[in-house]
Amino acid sequence: MASEKKYEFSPEVEKRFQWLLTRYPTKDAVLLPILHLVQDENKWLTPDSIEYVAKRMDLSPARVREVASFYTMFRLNQKGQYVLQVCHNISCYLRGSDGVIEHIKKRLNIKENEITPDGKFSLERVECLASCGTAPVLQVNGWDYHEELTIEKVDRIIDDLLKDKNAYPDYEKRISEGSVA
Ligand code: FES
Repeated sequence: MASEKKYEFSPEVEKRFQWLLTRYPTKDAVLLPILHLVQDENKWLTPDSIEYVAKRMDLSPARVREVASFYTMFRLNQKGQYVLQVCHNISCYLRGSDGVIEHIKKRLNIKENEITPDGKFSLERVECLASCGTAPVLQVNGWDYHEELTIEKVDRIIDDLLKDKNAYPDYEKRISEGSVA
């Protein structure tokens, strides 16, 4: 039986990895950007991609997993193309985040932590997104903030994403904009 192909950087990610090593002062500092690149290419951080990154970074897989699981923008399991994360902490709760979550569930016909059958969306309830003054808040794919949500706004966001419109740019674009640490 043929064994499953193990993850390794694509030529493009390898090129970016080498470039990042020249751009950051220490190898450790490259961990977050390289995890972004791997995720952008594979949609999520598979266990073997984490092992591979650890090997290339001279870190333990446990350390890479620990860092990846700390940040809500990283995906440690398969998710939809667009991950809708709605904050449910106090400010957002008081300003209607439960209604937002219920609306998204009904509109997409999924439960929390599920993926739509077409693979387009998944929905998650998350902790404070650090934008409590503009609650309720939703972020798409860990980057794209939508604040002071209303049901109409949520519908517009979903309508746009269904057409892949206004989807937040990929890592390459973010790094060139300077919006990535
Ligand atoms: S409580 Fe929702 S962003 Fe802080």
